[in-house]
Amino acid sequence: MNATIQTIIERRSVRAYQPRQIDDKEMQEILLAGQYAPSAMGQQPWHFTVLQNSSQLEKLDMLCKASFLNSDNTALREMASREEFKVFYHAPTLVIISGESKAIAPLYDSVLAMENMLLAAASLGIGSCWVHSPMMVYGSPEGPASLSSIGLDFPEGYIPYAAAVFGFSALPLPEATPRKPDTVTFLR
Ligand SMILES: Cc1cc2nc3c(=O)[nH]c(=O)nc-3n(C[C@H](O)[C@H](O)[C@H](O)COP(=O)(O)O)c2cc1C
Repeated sequence: MNATIQTIIERRSVRAYQPRQIDDKEMQEILLAGQYAPSAMGQQPWHFTVLQNSSQLEKLDMLCKASFLNSDNTALREMASREEFKVFYHAPTLVIISGESKAIAPLYDSVLAMENMLLAAASLGIGSCWVHSPMMVYGSPEGPASLSSIGLDFPEGYIPYAAAVFGFSALPLPEATPRKPDTVTFLR
């Protein structure tokens, strides 16, 4: 197995982070990997917002937690009702990829860019975890205004489609859950 496939198989979602920030050089490499994702008709309709300000991260964490508490989903409500629960797991960096809503396929483009970033991070020994809550907050009626109130604005006409936290894992990586069998059909 080559190193790329090994990285893909060994990447895990990290849910406990050290306070140590990622070096700028490595952050730039991770962002570059994101920008080399495929995109529909090569439009690259993405914008990468890198949030490394601890006070803004804390405020956004609280907004996201509130959206879990208000959600119809019992599991999300139970999770968020735990005082110590942090939506971003104390990670020092959050990246939100917003996409130009009028592009051909901004959701797919943004998600592919984020997956490239998760894999690039893993290849550098940096942990990551997709976090869906910023998109939940944005999608609520007061969402864009409440994000704006903490200094989180997106370019005109762009919508957040993908978000993930990055940093150094505070714990050994968990085992992968077993893969579902019988998910492949060859037609030859
Ligand atoms: C669309 C999507 C949304 C996710 N949202 C969250 C999230 O909000 N919080 C979280 O801790 N993990 C989230 N995850 C991570 C998954 O829980 C994780 O990928 C899955 O359990 C498999 O574990 P692995 O990434 O370690 O292989 C999300 C993953 C995807 C693809």
